[in-house]
Amino acid sequence: MDKHQQHRLNQLGEYPFARLRKLLDGLTPNPDLEFIDAGAGEPRLPLPSFVQPTLDAHIAEFSKYPTTSGNDFLRKSIAAWLKRRFSLKNVDANTQVLSANGTREALFAAAHALINPNAESKPWVMMPNPMYQIYLGAAITAGGKPYLQPCVQATGFAPDIDGISDDVWEDTALVYVCSPSNPTGWVADESYYIKLLKLAEKFDFYVLADECYSEIYYADKPVGLLEVAQNMGNTDYKRCLVMNSLSKRSALPGLRSGLIAGDAGLIQNFSKLRSYTGPATPLPLQHVAAAAWDDESHVQQHLKVYRDSLDAFFNVYGGDVPKGSFFVWLAVDDEEAFVRKAYVEQGVKLLPGSYLGTEDEYGINAGSGFVRAALVDGLEKAGELARRLSKIIA
Ligand SMILES: Cc1ncc(COP(=O)(O)O)c(C=O)c1O
Repeated sequence: MDKHQQHRLNQLGEYPFARLRKLLDGLTPNPDLEFIDAGAGEPRLPLPSFVQPTLDAHIAEFSKYPTTSGNDFLRKSIAAWLKRRFSLKNVDANTQVLSANGTREALFAAAHALINPNAESKPWVMMPNPMYQIYLGAAITAGGKPYLQPCVQATGFAPDIDGISDDVWEDTALVYVCSPSNPTGWVADESYYIKLLKLAEKFDFYVLADECYSEIYYADKPVGLLEVAQNMGNTDYKRCLVMNSLSKRSALPGLRSGLIAGDAGLIQNFSKLRSYTGPATPLPLQHVAAAAWDDESHVQQHLKVYRDSLDAFFNVYGGDVPKGSFFVWLAVDDEEAFVRKAYVEQGVKLLPGSYLGTEDEYGINAGSGFVRAALVDGLEKAGELARRLSKIIA
């Protein structure tokens, strides 16, 4: 066998959007209808008003190297936002916060910074199934074994933590939690996090919460991992890391700016890795990011659009509104056939749920039988999307 065949990258499947392109290849969306792209979770809202003036004021700083961990002013803004948003008493901007180029690279790098592939047996890296595919790629390339937690409708799509044996927890290095969840809209409540954090303490593993949808919710503000840790007396956030970004909160996915925060020891490891890999954010963009963390008014305006869009969709389509995120996760018979039909007959792009899951040891992909639609185009299109999808279901 070719010696390069063994490379861990070869164990990764094709990314969901590449698979979607292949699925729709050669098909034409209905030319009589305005096209609705509900495939990708890319917010399409107006640019917040502070972006341009902040960029203009700091444009000359493109001529300076930024620090990889994020310059002081940005880490301070992030720490202040975390304190305000999650009622945290202490967040040290120097030791408990890093800047990230969006959550995606940070979520991927996390497994590489935190797990020890030289351990006698490969450690488990736990993650929901279906999931944001980066967790899976990170676990595999970092030398861990993915442990899939099925998220099923019967339990409100909560990643299972009750049915896991002590042997598995003993060998677990890291648990990825996504709350609010892409794609299911599940949101962790305080009791879920308390249970998980007690297990983390008992079995000594890390909990990493992907909170990039924390500001997009239907009714109640989602609780954060650090907040629950603090309220349990874990005021140093031991074993906890959170990641968040301005991509969804501020509708600035192109800014590529986010945060990593929590346990100072883990932040130190992470910082060391990043000093070698070097994902620094240019200084003018760090200033835009700081301005975005400092402002809540645009976030509230966005939230209203997302809530109204969910209402517009579910008033027509029926069913339960997800607790968080701007995704709807709809049960269908055959997800690939449904996605093709939606494209050709109704001019709508969706994502098959199975592309966001992976087969477990029993050959079951927990994303099968679902499609995901992103409500990112405002309420009129959300209502129109629901009308078109209802026609297919009918
Ligand atoms: C669950 C989840 N995590 C992380 C990301 C990455 O977002 P970003 O890197 O823009 O912060 C996304 C983007 O769609 C996502 O859905």
